[in-house]
Amino acid sequence: MKTLFAATWWFGRLAVEEAWRVYQQALSDPPEERLLNAVVAGASAVELDPQVLSVGLGGLPNRLGEVELDAAVMEGAQLRAGAVAALRRFVPAVQIALRVMQKTPHLMLAGEGAEQFALQEGFQPRLLLTEESVRRWHEWYQQQHSPEDVSQARAAHEPHDTVGVLGWCEGHLVAACTTSGLAWKMPGRIGDSPIVGAGLYADDEAGAAVATGLGEEIWRFTLCSRVVELMREGVSAQRACEQVVQSMLRRLPEVAQHQAAVIAIRADGDFGCAAIQADRFEAFFCRDGEIFSRQPPTG
Ligand code: GLY
Repeated sequence: MKTLFAATWWFGRLAVEEAWRVYQQALSDPPEERLLNAVVAGASAVELDPQVLSVGLGGLPNRLGEVELDAAVMEGAQLRAGAVAALRRFVPAVQIALRVMQKTPHLMLAGEGAEQFALQEGFQPRLLLTEESVRRWHEWYQQQHSPEDVSQARAAHEPHDTVGVLGWCEGHLVAACTTSGLAWKMPGRIGDSPIVGAGLYADDEAGAAVATGLGEEIWRFTLCSRVVELMREGVSAQRACEQVVQSMLRRLPEVAQHQAAVIAIRADGDFGCAAIQADRFEAFFCRDGEIFSRQPPTG
């Protein structure tokens, strides 16, 4: 095997297909840049698909009806990373995160600062709401009696599925993720996705991981860095993912009410995935152009 791409959820198929397409076309690029651009292209394709209600354009908005995006990239050779948080009006957020990594001395830009930076980099502001996301927000808004109680209960049932994409090429690793976060969230709420160590991690000396699910749970357990640290010790990617998910459940059994899932690739190309609600998660992989899906083992 020379290359492996992996991505979360049903839209992970689109992500790995696009990553593989871009990777194949960029024959003359330096290998590390080629892998990074492919992974970012895969995540961007999902952001630009308005049918995905939890990522980018068409993502469900916050309780004020505004779409706020979180995204990040990390590369495992030099441990460079870039992220944006609570970004409004610009897609693909993951490409702006890449520019943060490439063009600033910082690791994350948030809110207005991120939006100013996006403008400066030539991205055009646009409306991220769609007919469908406005319809859903309106329905939620009308159903509210007590804003606190009902929004919490409803939020748990709305999709907040991040697209996470991993790329591996002969020992080099890259990770990216992007999301519109929890539907009907409080303005300014930031989840795990732009947080290095929580939503993603990549280190060529160990492996890479990317997470999806309820950001508050993923973040407080620093899910991805823990998976990568286990792979550093030689644990298989599958076992590392399972071990961390099991330790979350052991430490706080109530975590079982929420979804949290992780996919991982070890530095040698070994791969795996695990989820708290395993029967409700799938990941897509592309190994040298061959696409297949995996569900984590249940029980
Ligand atoms: N994992 C995405 C979020 O909670 O924002």
